[in-house]
Amino acid sequence: MKLRRALQVLAVLLLFAFAVMVWFYLSGRSVVSQREGVQRGEEVYASHDCTDCHLAAHILKQKREKNEVGLIRVRKNAADLVQFLSSDERHKTFVMISAGDRDDLIAYLRSLVMTAK
Ligand code: HEC
Repeated sequence: MKLRRALQVLAVLLLFAFAVMVWFYLSGRSVVSQREGVQRGEEVYASHDCTDCHLAAHILKQKREKNEVGLIRVRKNAADLVQFLSSDERHKTFVMISAGDRDDLIAYLRSLVMTAK
């Protein structure tokens, strides 16, 4: 009977350890994929007409390092920004970018500093 109890405790501990491992794996991965999205978003930004009017990606990177505001000054909410870029005449290339690339582009723009110190 004692052995059985010990095995039950062991089984519960193993299940718990497994759950913790899965959790670490999943949370680690989502951080990585978020970072990859931002990186791809920078490429989307650099490969469309955005830099005709806005700063080049490498300048924006320097600004981020210095904690200076990037592109977003007004529409700090993601939904408002998407709404603006989708409907503004000067941003008509935005709707021609694929949905996946657009998501990455938004993640990139929002990864730049949004509020002045
Ligand atoms: C023809 C010039 C032009 C092009 C091309 C252009 N923009 Fe803009 N963009 C502007 C102007 C002007 C504003 C400021 C308008 C405003 O805030 O009402 C602006 C504002 C923005 C903002 C700030 C919005 C905010 O809420 O502060 C973002 C982000 C942005 N553009 C991203 C982009 C991206 C991404 C592209 C490429 C897909 C792009 N722009 C292409 C002219 C341009």
